[in-house]
Amino acid sequence: MKFSDILMHWYRANKRDLPWRDTHDAYLIWLSEIILQQTRVEQGMPYYFKFAERFPTVKAFAEASEDEVLRLWQGLGYYSRGRNMLKTAIKVMEEHGGIFPSDYTSLIKLTGIGAYTAAAISSFSANEARAVVDGNVYRLISRHFGVETPINTPKGNKEFQELANELLNPYLAGEHNQAMIEFGALQCKPKNPNCSICPFITSCYAYQHKKISELPVKLKT
Ligand code: ADE
Repeated sequence: MKFSDILMHWYRANKRDLPWRDTHDAYLIWLSEIILQQTRVEQGMPYYFKFAERFPTVKAFAEASEDEVLRLWQGLGYYSRGRNMLKTAIKVMEEHGGIFPSDYTSLIKLTGIGAYTAAAISSFSANEARAVVDGNVYRLISRHFGVETPINTPKGNKEFQELANELLNPYLAGEHNQAMIEFGALQCKPKNPNCSICPFITSCYAYQHKKISELPVKLKT
């Protein structure tokens, strides 16, 4: 079986029921992805519900005051995320007629949206074939394929993005990307993963070479 088929099989049996997975609304997916940057799912979840309820549309968000956005953001940290969101919501009203874009090329031009977030929103909302690479994906790919290039270098960024692109199932781009993230979060965990129940046990380089705790490689900054 191909990597993506094994992954998808695992995902359908093990995935968590997360609220942003029930929607194709690019605005709501954007909300969840910005909240989840530098924030764990359990911590981000109540904020996602709070923001989605107070601002159900990008128009509602764009009409908010910065004070209110920052007040709702309280406790999450990295407040520039909240400020950038307001700028982006206003820009979407002005330049996209209030329709939150779902294509990578438009998304990447918005404040606070980088390659990861543009790939996440475009694949989850519109199935655009863009592979996401976050910390979970770095870990899974470096261990499974034995990639020792440091992940926090330009060479590493490029190499991991290319590998992720090759693994992507273009017909199920959104679900495949969710599965990559979920696999890194639940199975291929940073510390003491339970490899005895891993569906990749026979093909994983790090497991075979006893290098789980050494991968991924990250340069000290
Ligand atoms: N972290 C960032 N994006 C996520 C997602 N879509 N699902 C679970 N965890 C995430």
